[in-house]
Amino acid sequence: MSSKRFLTGITTSGTPHLGNYVGSIRPSVRASLRPDVESFYFLADFHALIKTGDPARIQRSTLEIAASWLAAGLDPERVTFYRQSDVPEIPELTWFLTCVTGKGILNRAHAYKASVDKNTSAGEDPDADVSAGLFMYPVLMGADILMFNAHKVPVGRDQIQHIEMARDMANSFNYRYGEHFVPPEAEIEEDVATLPGLDGRKMSKSYDNTIALFTPRAQLKKLIASIVTDSRAPGEAKSTEGSALFQIYQAFATPEETTALRQAYLEGIAWGDAKQLVFERIDREIAPMRDTYLALLNDPVKIETILLAGAAKARQIATPFMGRLRQAVGLRDLRVQTRDKTEKAAKVAKPVFKQYRESDGKFYFKLLDAEGQLLLQSLGFDSPKEAGQIISLLRTQGAAALPDLADKLQAETVVKAQNISAALQQMAEPD
Ligand code: TRP
Repeated sequence: MSSKRFLTGITTSGTPHLGNYVGSIRPSVRASLRPDVESFYFLADFHALIKTGDPARIQRSTLEIAASWLAAGLDPERVTFYRQSDVPEIPELTWFLTCVTGKGILNRAHAYKASVDKNTSAGEDPDADVSAGLFMYPVLMGADILMFNAHKVPVGRDQIQHIEMARDMANSFNYRYGEHFVPPEAEIEEDVATLPGLDGRKMSKSYDNTIALFTPRAQLKKLIASIVTDSRAPGEAKSTEGSALFQIYQAFATPEETTALRQAYLEGIAWGDAKQLVFERIDREIAPMRDTYLALLNDPVKIETILLAGAAKARQIATPFMGRLRQAVGLRDLRVQTRDKTEKAAKVAKPVFKQYRESDGKFYFKLLDAEGQLLLQSLGFDSPKEAGQIISLLRTQGAAALPDLADKLQAETVVKAQNISAALQQMAEPD
């Protein structure tokens, strides 16, 4: 099986917290160790500009998040680890995608709608204090993902809508300009919907309810002690349902450990004892990384060097891909004759490959002769890339490639091998 591309980013607007660790850092490091995965992980500092106007904070946060990722075991040799703003192709692609994205779709984005709803209920102008950057957030995120044609995006549940929007952008662009993008999918860790914070709401900088990932042991203990619980006394059975403490534990514990705590809840464990248990469990996982983290924070030169090398690696993909996309949309070298009209006319008179997607979600292609008769019909593929690869095989090798492709094509259509061969030859001839 060909390898899958995983990609995820973290916005550099704050100090990384347990929610970032559980929802993004830890799963991304785990995925990066799989032999069948090619990983792209980055610091979303363009996104940070949407959230904060504090330059020092962005710089600090970039350092802290990079150090966290490395301390958690990310190997920059093995993955492509970079800072978004070091890849100028990303904002360029953002514009291309902006032009194929309906404004109405962006109106429905959760984050934007939440601001509008808040303003409306406060009797303000609906767009009060909403920057165009916030409105465009999903498009920038779409460019992050599509730039590297990622298949899977490990994110928290709250980001699913953004991935769906990126799929829409990929499909709209492909429809208009040909198959260039892989529509991505969200990869959600099922147990870790979103980590609750100290007050039980989603752990988030904006709620000020976070536990910093590498907070010192003593502080970690204090913070965990401050997680909201109900007022049930020791000995009284406790409910795991809606218990932030329980959910946080679950994100770190094995299934057996979780079952044991569920049992302890039933048996009326005191909140103080439960908190001690949760604290020790989390610290057991975090403590070994804490020293590495602190050492990295004190070595910004090392981190900067790693990030610049990562950007160079990312641009080995982004720069040529952007060149193709510029060509596709018509931003072209004037000295090279474009032949849109003749190309179209030629299509009528020549055999042609058609690529398309069926309602089963799979990607297909067919070969039609100059009169539009079906010569070859493929089976369904998981990605447009696979279909494209077979087409180029047929284009370069002609009918000689057919025997090897038996399991990729509809057998009934392969019988007219002579016609197929003639058509492929005709296609290869210059006009
Ligand atoms: N929006 C993500 C968050 O706030 C960060 C992000 C930016 C991202 N670009 C991305 C995540 C691309 C995944 C893929 O958590």
